[in-house]
Amino acid sequence: MSAKSLFPGVYTVDGKLATKNMVKGKTVYGEKLIVEKNVEYRLWTPYRSKLSAAIMNGLNDFKIKSEDAVLYLGVASGTTPSHISDIIGEKGRLYGVEISERSMRDFVTLCHARKNMLPILADARYPENYADTVEQCDIIYQDVAAKEQAMILKENSKFLKKGGYAYFVIKSQSVDMAKPPKEVYKEELAKLESTFEILEKLSLEPYDSLHLFVVLKKK
Ligand SMILES: C[S@@+](CC[C@H](N)C(=O)[O-])C[C@H]1O[C@@H](n2cnc3c(N)ncnc32)[C@H](O)[C@@H]1O
Repeated sequence: MSAKSLFPGVYTVDGKLATKNMVKGKTVYGEKLIVEKNVEYRLWTPYRSKLSAAIMNGLNDFKIKSEDAVLYLGVASGTTPSHISDIIGEKGRLYGVEISERSMRDFVTLCHARKNMLPILADARYPENYADTVEQCDIIYQDVAAKEQAMILKENSKFLKKGGYAYFVIKSQSVDMAKPPKEVYKEELAKLESTFEILEKLSLEPYDSLHLFVVLKKK
């Protein structure tokens, strides 16, 4: 068994993606724990996390690092956020926005164990409602199953530092089920041209379909 560093805070253990577990002995969604040289890793499956799928599909611009402030839109019960929490470490901050009360209950429980995550029960379409809580961030990660996805990212970009990075998952079916996905992606990205430079676009196949994973940099 051997752990190799892929990006700061992201490892492969026996060829499988993993992060160092910030909360020893605890799993978040039933993922496997592996101990090597006294370090505990949590396997990060691409079938459960679109960020893991993007890394497996060759993501180059992985900019999330130790001590970063991250605004995460659509945390659900915290699967991907928990791995970002491992990466940013104890001095990092993850502001987790979620509209569903049911999912937020699980996320709040997770935040008790992971002190670098802060739960925000809110609709990401109205960022003014959490403007007093969120700081200027290094990263925005957005994975919301909502219709106005580009608009949500644009409205929330006021919380992103100039030169900061956005990881944007576009779910074509939530925007328009009738349109071909490629058309949806093009239209959504056109809405962001004035605010962001597009760095990378990745398909998430075979792990996930009908999604485009996009990396953007704030102008
Ligand atoms: C695909 S899930 C997110 C999964 C999560 N990012 C992960 O990888 O672990 C999408 C989430 O977006 C949330 N959502 C949908 N519309 C939203 C909105 N307007 N504001 C905040 N969250 C929203 C849904 O409730 C759902 O939990």
